[in-house]
Amino acid sequence: DGFCGHEVFTARGGVTFDDYIVLPGFIDFAAEAVTLRSRLTRKITLNTPFVSSPMDTVTEAQTAIHMALYGGIGIVHCNNTIEEQCEIVRQVKRFKNGFITDPFTLSPDHRLRDIDTIKAQSGFSGIPVTESGKMGARLVGIVTTRDHDFILDRNVLVKDVMTTDVVVAEEGCSLEEANNILRDSKKGKLPIVNSHGELVSLISRKDLRKNRDYPMASKDHGNKRLLVGASIHTRDSDKERLKRLVEQGVNVVVIDSSQGNSTFQKSMIEYIKSTYGDVVQIIAGNVVTIEQARNLISWGADALRVGMGSGSICTTQEVMACGRPQATAVYQVARYARTQGVPVIADGGISNVGKISKALVAGASCIMMGSMLAGTEESPGEYFYKDGIRLKRYRGMGSLDAMNSGGGSADRYFSENAKVQVAQGVAGNVADKGSLKRYLPYLTTSLKHSLQDMGRRSIEDVHAGIYDGTLRYETKTAAAQSEGKVHN
Ligand code: XMP
Repeated sequence: DGFCGHEVFTARGGVTFDDYIVLPGFIDFAAEAVTLRSRLTRKITLNTPFVSSPMDTVTEAQTAIHMALYGGIGIVHCNNTIEEQCEIVRQVKRFKNGFITDPFTLSPDHRLRDIDTIKAQSGFSGIPVTESGKMGARLVGIVTTRDHDFILDRNVLVKDVMTTDVVVAEEGCSLEEANNILRDSKKGKLPIVNSHGELVSLISRKDLRKNRDYPMASKDHGNKRLLVGASIHTRDSDKERLKRLVEQGVNVVVIDSSQGNSTFQKSMIEYIKSTYGDVVQIIAGNVVTIEQARNLISWGADALRVGMGSGSICTTQEVMACGRPQATAVYQVARYARTQGVPVIADGGISNVGKISKALVAGASCIMMGSMLAGTEESPGEYFYKDGIRLKRYRGMGSLDAMNSGGGSADRYFSENAKVQVAQGVAGNVADKGSLKRYLPYLTTSLKHSLQDMGRRSIEDVHAGIYDGTLRYETKTAAAQSEGKVHN
């Protein structure tokens, strides 16, 4: 019954996610038994196939940390200075569950009103005091509400009220050891210091209760640090960027381009392979055809990013008359790339869980998302209200907005030196999605149910079904598409 993938994806020209559906299989296992482990690159396998887009309204430190905690990976954008991008990567690599590595800090010469400001902004009340007022400086005290709440004059200096006899723990202690110290000392905050007495992180009693385990987390083998990726372009200055990112311990680089089949990408891939081939994996792209894929793989790509003009903020297909419907693009590239041992990341056009499954059944190993993750608490930017709806900004990296922000995102579209700029994206807003802490587990669980309906226990099993013809599909007419949605 139904059709095999090849017919659906190639027989009628290009198709995309709404154009087809998978026929159900046989269920003899629980949804919980489904594994979502999947390959991101030749050498990296993730526990969940989720990747966040390298866009300045999607991936900075908090997104990347949470993507990795829940088994995926974040790709830090490069529409910023080298220092800014490296600092984000550093924060992800330094992240230790339960340890706050960027707490509010004060210097002894701050005043009580500065404490009031921090309290009003963040709700935090126990604030470590260091010599310079910054992290990494010598810890000289801590101020808590009890030190100052009866003092009416808010111009009093912090040094005149702070507690100097501070209970601390040494850097390198485990979370469990730190917990024990907090329990015994009955304090609210535990500063962690290095051998020079300099503040490196902080543990909060309140957080301890909220702490959870992240059994799926994506970590590197040796250091047990979270995995993180970063994007670069193909200019000479990107070699310096790359060097600094590697120094910070980045695991994956994405060469960010809307059309990856170019001499620029060839030189960059070859450069990375010969210089850092052992330490970073290269995701090259974007591509949508077998011919493009063949080139990138022959130059040394460890994974391919597939999609051209399919993103929710893209205008590439309209403006450039170039691209490909996304499901056919993923299918064609994936069926070639797998013969070379290279996994494929479907990038663009994912607007719900169903489309994540549709990309997997087209052959993708991982799914990159922009708009799906842009409205979360962890994405960059502040919430605002419009017509009563809570929103965040979301913009294409080829939008005039992003290209003119000075970060260099125009390079993605070969318009770095152009006198006339041609936008290939738009800027807009997306609705509040809450925290990734709830959203990612939701995506994971729903995806497991989707695979269960297909009778498939794993992504590997899905892929086997594509190529041995046991996974069956049907295309959907316009009427069938509206039947499958809410009717009114
Ligand atoms: P979604 O649909 O997840 O798409 O929001 C995110 C992907 O879109 C690509 N991207 C762009 N494509 N013009 C484009 O043609 C743009 O301005 C633009 N900005 C991002 C990118 O591949 C991203 O992962």
